[in-house]
Amino acid sequence: MSRMRCFGCVFVLSYCFSVLHTDAQITDPSEVAALISVKKSLVDPMKHLRSWNRGDPCASNWTGIFCFDTYGTDGYLHVRELQLLKMNLSGHLTPELGKLSQLIILDFMWNELVGSIPKEIGSISSLQLLLLNGNKLSGSFPDELGYLSKLNRLQVDQNNISGPIPKSFAYMSSIRHLHLNNNSINGQIPPELSNLTTLLHLLLDNNNLSGHLPPELSKLPAMRIIQLDNNNFNGSEIPATYGSLSRLAKLSLRNCSLQGSIPDLSSIPSLYYLDLSKNNLRGSLPSKLYDTIRTIDLSVNHLSGSIPGIFSDLRFLQRLSLENNQLNGSVPANIWQNMTSTKSYSLTVDLRNNLLSSISGALNPPDNVTLRLRGNPICDNANIANITQFCGYEAGGDRTTERSTNSTMTCPVQACPVDNFFEYVPASPLPCFCASPLRIGYRLKSPSFSYFDPYVFSFESYVTSALKLNPYQLSIDSYFWEEGPRLRMHLKIFPPANNMHSSTFNVSEVLRIRGIFTSWHFPGDDLFGPYELLNFTLVGPYAGVYLTKGKNISKGVWVAIALGSIACIIAVTAAVSLLIARRYARQHRKMSRRHISSNASMKIDGVKGFTFKEMAMATDSFNCSAQVGRGGYGKVYRGILSGNSIVAIKRAEEGSLQGQKEFLTEIKLLSRLHHINLVSLVGYCEEKEEQMLVYEFMPNGTLRDWLSDKAKGTLNFDFVIPSKSLDVTCLPPLDAMKRH
Ligand SMILES: *[C@@H]1O[C@H](CO)[C@@H](O)[C@H](O)[C@H]1NC(C)=O
Ligand SMILES: *[C@@H]1O[C@H](CO)[C@@H](O)[C@H](O)[C@H]1NC(C)=O
Ligand SMILES: *[C@@H]1O[C@H](CO)[C@@H](O)[C@H](O)[C@H]1NC(C)=O
Ligand SMILES: *[C@@H]1O[C@H](CO)[C@@H](O)[C@H](O)[C@H]1NC(C)=O
Ligand SMILES: *[C@@H]1O[C@H](CO)[C@@H](O)[C@H](O)[C@H]1NC(C)=O
Ligand SMILES: *[C@@H]1O[C@H](CO)[C@@H](O)[C@H](O)[C@H]1NC(C)=O
Ligand SMILES: *[C@@H]1O[C@H](CO)[C@@H](O)[C@H](O)[C@H]1NC(C)=O
Ligand SMILES: *[C@@H]1O[C@H](CO)[C@@H](O)[C@H](O)[C@H]1NC(C)=O
Ligand SMILES: *[C@@H]1O[C@H](CO)[C@@H](O)[C@H](O)[C@H]1NC(C)=O
Ligand SMILES: *[C@@H]1O[C@H](CO)[C@@H](O)[C@H](O)[C@H]1NC(C)=O
Ligand SMILES: *[C@@H]1O[C@H](CO)[C@@H](O)[C@H](O)[C@H]1NC(C)=O
Ligand SMILES: *[C@@H]1O[C@H](CO)[C@@H](O)[C@H](O)[C@H]1NC(C)=O
Repeated sequence: MSRMRCFGCVFVLSYCFSVLHTDAQITDPSEVAALISVKKSLVDPMKHLRSWNRGDPCASNWTGIFCFDTYGTDGYLHVRELQLLKMNLSGHLTPELGKLSQLIILDFMWNELVGSIPKEIGSISSLQLLLLNGNKLSGSFPDELGYLSKLNRLQVDQNNISGPIPKSFAYMSSIRHLHLNNNSINGQIPPELSNLTTLLHLLLDNNNLSGHLPPELSKLPAMRIIQLDNNNFNGSEIPATYGSLSRLAKLSLRNCSLQGSIPDLSSIPSLYYLDLSKNNLRGSLPSKLYDTIRTIDLSVNHLSGSIPGIFSDLRFLQRLSLENNQLNGSVPANIWQNMTSTKSYSLTVDLRNNLLSSISGALNPPDNVTLRLRGNPICDNANIANITQFCGYEAGGDRTTERSTNSTMTCPVQACPVDNFFEYVPASPLPCFCASPLRIGYRLKSPSFSYFDPYVFSFESYVTSALKLNPYQLSIDSYFWEEGPRLRMHLKIFPPANNMHSSTFNVSEVLRIRGIFTSWHFPGDDLFGPYELLNFTLVGPYAGVYLTKGKNISKGVWVAIALGSIACIIAVTAAVSLLIARRYARQHRKMSRRHISSNASMKIDGVKGFTFKEMAMATDSFNCSAQVGRGGYGKVYRGILSGNSIVAIKRAEEGSLQGQKEFLTEIKLLSRLHHINLVSLVGYCEEKEEQMLVYEFMPNGTLRDWLSDKAKGTLNFDFVIPSKSLDVTCLPPLDAMKRH
């Protein structure tokens, strides 16, 4: 066989790999493999992921994949966000997700996923938002999630997760939002959660939690919302320490089987919402509360004593529910007397089914006050004027207000193509401005008010200022209250009415606005509480918008890739025929010495098997100073073997370990590619969780580096990427010691 021919072949092969790598394969290959595995494990009836077949994830607009703008130190692009909100996906979450090692947002909200949460997600140490709410996930939480030390938001609500809250969650040292409501979580709330000093919202309502409420939670300095409704803390008391949660805005412990008395909450200056209803609380009503409070629900308990005078000072109060207790004494008319000064508020005072027998003051509440007295002895006292109108039966549902705005505009109907999802902007400063809105399903999960009307305006400014839009660009199309209580809305966001010619958002604006919703870049607001994004519907003119952000690749590069690919096919065909020819010749020559071993111990001519210990000795335990480069496969070290020969040791990183069979096949292949211009394989090391290749050391890079001065490697033929050309961050070799 002629050396020239072989050289030519290697030349073409190298060229081919460099073209493939530097242009087509710009996403980390292990992440590409992980994404393909993600797709395989999902069922996608609407074919939302059909773009996941072609090209490169970061270069070819794979739906829902958002990549970093810049190449990593390893020369690859990495996936930053995986956003698959409400795409009718079923199937399960593959453990391969753990290989998306630089992921920041993992979003599978509102799909139909089943199965459990793979523990491998716990190894994505960069993860900040883990959003799995609204699926059918089951099983228990893997302890490994606790090691996500950068996690800001864990939303797994509305699934069917069982088992306890792992104590390891105490290590989520950046967590601010823990939303685990509406599952089947059981066991006690771990007192260890008191280590989460950054925690703002703890939503564990509608689970099967038991045990006692940990008093330690009062140590959480940032805590705003504690919502634990519908659990069974059988006989436990509300810890008195909760009175020192100085930032608390909402405490909701409805239907929790709690006993004891109401702790002193008078020193919480920003308490907006207090719901302790449907428990077995005894004792008297609070005698002091800050006047920030909007909602007080202490109904269905065994509270006794009289109604204190404090309620008259609560200027913003919208609801006072004290029904079904054993309160006695008189009804203080001053509860509503101050209402005359704050007329835009509605107030419901529900005192039904108590032991109230008289009234102090006049029974003449203003129209916006709903007063209910039925089931009290006072109703039997016909001497009290106006009494009957407050003692009758009436429809109980006062909080099911529904609204839909009706525009009173008179604009020509034909001029705005409603069927194509355009409509007149209700509050537009330009009359009859016809535009196509973004349609957003939105829900306040734990609002602190009971009536929305007084807050509609501030809500609109809250949303539009967070989105950097004008207030007229938002329209609350409809809203209604749901169980919880939660407030569900349909929002429409219109493009600015700057000129009549641009009545849609451009793509980057759509992605910007969506990004603010999906990454929760809204400032916290104690009155509105946490929100959830139910859908972000792109219809009409927005139907074709790619929900992705990758690298934009110019046409010229695509042409180069196409040419490269053709060259590659030719080269690979040539190389394969060459290999077959050589193998055939060799087999004839060395038939007698051919061993095929099924296990790790494999003998190949001229290739030595090394132990991990030998490799560690050669590299001073994989010391930083021995590292000479790294590729997609792993790090490369300069090593000195016991016979003093200098070698390059390529050590696979955890994410790129191959199956044993593939690894051995590769070694066989490499062992045959001996050539003067190619670095030859000296040996290999294969031990549990370690795969290394040992080459002759070439101080000046490889042939391929020399051929294509782009020092980027791929596949397993590359190895030495000179450190000086890349910013290699070398960490102490802890992992080497840990694994053995
Ligand atoms: C990806 O989307 C951008 C616009 O979002 C477009 O310019 C580009 O052509 C798309 N690329 C591919 C390969 O579809
Ligand atoms: C997709 O999901 C919606 C609701 O989320 C449902 O109405 C629709 O039937 C689903 N479509 C398919 C094909 O599963
Ligand atoms: C939730 O899981 C439990 C078992 O843990 C099962 O009995 C129950 O049917 C599941 N509920 C739903 C709605 O899937
Ligand atoms: C949560 O669970 C409760 C009780 O099962 C239910 O009433 C409520 O509708 C659920 N909330 C959501 C948002 O699913
Ligand atoms: C919680 O913090 C305390 C003191 O800071 C520490 O001793 C304890 O080990 C921590 N526990 C966990 C589970 O992080
Ligand atoms: C809730 O937990 C109790 C034990 O604390 C158990 O008996 C019950 O079956 C659980 N209920 C559900 C729906 O998981
Ligand atoms: C709640 O506690 C009482 C005694 O305090 C006990 O009799 C009852 O069985 C318990 N209920 C549950 C559901 O654990
Ligand atoms: C409410 O009314 C009482 C008298 O009924 C008065 O003393 C108090 O100052 C009023 N509070 C406010 C906030 O107006
Ligand atoms: C009742 O409240 C509404 C707004 O919620 C306000 O427009 C109306 O004037 C109020 N009426 C009275 C009598 O206070
Ligand atoms: C009875 O109600 C009317 C208005 O509803 C009011 O004008 C009148 O003062 C009330 N009477 C008493 C004695 O409170
Ligand atoms: C809105 O307008 C339609 C007719 O234009 C009317 O039938 C409907 O009752 C109105 N709705 C409201 C809430 O005013
Ligand atoms: C989005 O959510 C809103 C509010 O729940 C709802 O009215 C609308 O129908 C939803 N749209 C889609 C496409 O699911």
